[in-house]
Amino acid sequence: MKELNEGLESYDVITHANEMFVAEELTEDEEKLLDELGIVGESRRKFLGQVGAAGFGMLALQVLTSQEMFAAEGGGFEVASPKADAIENAVKVVMKINGDKKSLNVDSRMTLLDALRERLGLTGSKKGCDHGQCGACTVIVDGERILSCLTLMATCEGKDVTTIEGIASGEKLHPMQEAFIKYDGFQCGYCTPGQICSSVALLDEAEKGEVSFVTENISAKSRSMTLSDDEIRERMAGNLCRCGAYPNIVKAIKEVHRGEETAATWNFATPNNDNVAENKIKEDAQNETV
Ligand code: FES
Ligand code: FES
Repeated sequence: MKELNEGLESYDVITHANEMFVAEELTEDEEKLLDELGIVGESRRKFLGQVGAAGFGMLALQVLTSQEMFAAEGGGFEVASPKADAIENAVKVVMKINGDKKSLNVDSRMTLLDALRERLGLTGSKKGCDHGQCGACTVIVDGERILSCLTLMATCEGKDVTTIEGIASGEKLHPMQEAFIKYDGFQCGYCTPGQICSSVALLDEAEKGEVSFVTENISAKSRSMTLSDDEIRERMAGNLCRCGAYPNIVKAIKEVHRGEETAATWNFATPNNDNVAENKIKEDAQNETV
């Protein structure tokens, strides 16, 4: 019993110490954070009494750091830039990204993919393999599709980069994006930004009459060619899809490339369709009981 009482007393001492910390040691940022979390009054006292000074200090540091990292510049999802003198081997790169002029100080070894994702918050371009094998990072630079994981940001000075975020025109999707939706050209969607950037650039390649490994009778080719399914498959071979959405991707690209619309073979699950399914279940159940 004596030990229990001593234990409770020491608990009281700790709790009291934490309450003192609550009253006296919160910084302005910590106060603000607790207000944002809606922890006020008695709940705040209890919460801080439980987590203690060190625990809350760590939590506040983590939350405030992540808030700073994702702080919006210009209302977007842009990540704050480190100061030029804090970057090793810094080079300044001025370029256009999705139509907007950007000026960035980057480590000369930074890839375009990392700059897009880590410095500009354009996370549509995906890092699949980071070795030029999967195509998930494909973006369009000066009209040509490239692998941004194998492209140094420092080589993009003065270039015009289009990422998946810049493919649509405002709220209006690019026809290729619409076709991917129509033909169900994706499952998890991880490879999809790269697939779409690649296929948009592929349309231009066909328009310019650029040949591929499977193009027959190269000498007879003129500007603008109609791509067969094999041509599309060959030209999209650098974009891997682990979900295996390939047949639908080919259909989507073919429709946009040829401009011949075909009817989708599936429907969205509308409330009416749900009712049809529900009625069918009810009907089957009734038949079973008869
Ligand atoms: S991430 Fe660039 S090719 Fe895979
Ligand atoms: S849709 Fe999942 S990897 Fe292509």
